[in-house]
Amino acid sequence: MSDGAVTERMLLTGIGELVTNEPAPDREGGPLGIVRDAAVLVEDGRIAWVGRGTHASEHLARRDEREDRREGDEHRTLWDADVEVVDVGGRAVIPGFVDSHTHLVFGGDRAEEFAARMAGRRYEAGGIRSTVAATRAASDDELRARLAAFVAELHDQGTTTFEVKSGYGLSVADEERLVRLAGEVTDEVTFLGAHVVPAEYADAPDAYVELVVGEMLAACAPHARWIDAFCERGAFTPEQSRRVLDAGAALGLGIRVHGNQLGEGDGVRLAVELGAASVDHCTYLSEADVAALAASDTVATLLPGVEFSTRQPYPDARRLIDAGVTVALASDCNPGSSFTSSMPFCIAVAVRDMGMTPAETVWASTAGGAAALRRTDVGAIRPGARADLVLLDAPSHVHLAYRPGVPLVARVWKDGALITER
Ligand code: NIG
Ligand code: FE
Repeated sequence: MSDGAVTERMLLTGIGELVTNEPAPDREGGPLGIVRDAAVLVEDGRIAWVGRGTHASEHLARRDEREDRREGDEHRTLWDADVEVVDVGGRAVIPGFVDSHTHLVFGGDRAEEFAARMAGRRYEAGGIRSTVAATRAASDDELRARLAAFVAELHDQGTTTFEVKSGYGLSVADEERLVRLAGEVTDEVTFLGAHVVPAEYADAPDAYVELVVGEMLAACAPHARWIDAFCERGAFTPEQSRRVLDAGAALGLGIRVHGNQLGEGDGVRLAVELGAASVDHCTYLSEADVAALAASDTVATLLPGVEFSTRQPYPDARRLIDAGVTVALASDCNPGSSFTSSMPFCIAVAVRDMGMTPAETVWASTAGGAAALRRTDVGAIRPGARADLVLLDAPSHVHLAYRPGVPLVARVWKDGALITER
């Protein structure tokens, strides 16, 4: 190795089933691009090579010879002298989950509301206001500690990339602090000032929209990559949502939309028209919505945790996939409609109740999430991608749905570093 930075290398071998999300003629599993008896070489936090385990040592020896010649060093003796070899004993490895939709900066919880719902009460968007009050009352350090605990929870369950939205501040100062705190734990920060109209603007929703597109957006945009609006009865009209999304886009933010959660509406149409990266929920869709999504680059992000904990009908993923729509799965982790941070839980529910195959759910939770965030460096195991890897205590990805509720995530690497080991 030449002088300068030391190259960190790890060879994962003995992978019984490797889900790459990179289909190839010699690979199985359709879009999952499965390689059996596989190995993955990681160098400096990135994937350097993917192939059959039996070819790994050959590959390394050839590579090192080339490098040594190039660097004019002494010919190196053994390829394994500077590579950490980790044999995973025939278990499955998948890309780290990409959770493209969470609301993790908030105070308090709404366990009582959940219990009341399970006793028959309906979910209403207005419940958001009680979390707004608890969030405003929490200090930065309280919110930070909460956030850190959620990040650990995500990592432990195999999530290596996640988006975080604001939306429980709903004043200039509070929204600014939520996007700022979110930015301390992820690059995927979404400004959701248009979550609901806060109580103090109940009689003047348009004045609130003016605040969002004016002072609030100006304070939040420097900390955010995305803008989002909740386009739904009880939240914002299509006109108000469009105004907010346009204003964010004018400042260079990418567009995401919450839509079609509680009934059919204009969220999907608006998202497609504005070229949104993703429209999330998609529980109630018309034929025209499905056709519009299929003809667009907008990902339909389905959030099974919401229907689970609001006792709503699940979205029909089969209908979307059969129409050619790109589908992502995300947790929507928030204290009101879906208080789970677990992608394996979402996978199990989506297989059982949304018409998805196990393979489709694993793709939607990794490559689908990456598409929803317009990222090409995560969501697949291919040379050049970030080395975000999940080792399952199972021989196949199918076990994620087949063994619901069982903690199958054995080890997680993010950018090549081991961040979780069980
Ligand atoms: O994505 N739909 C709007 N917002 C959240 C719910 C927030 C809440 O109930 O606190 C969601 O489901
Ligand atoms: Fe949400």
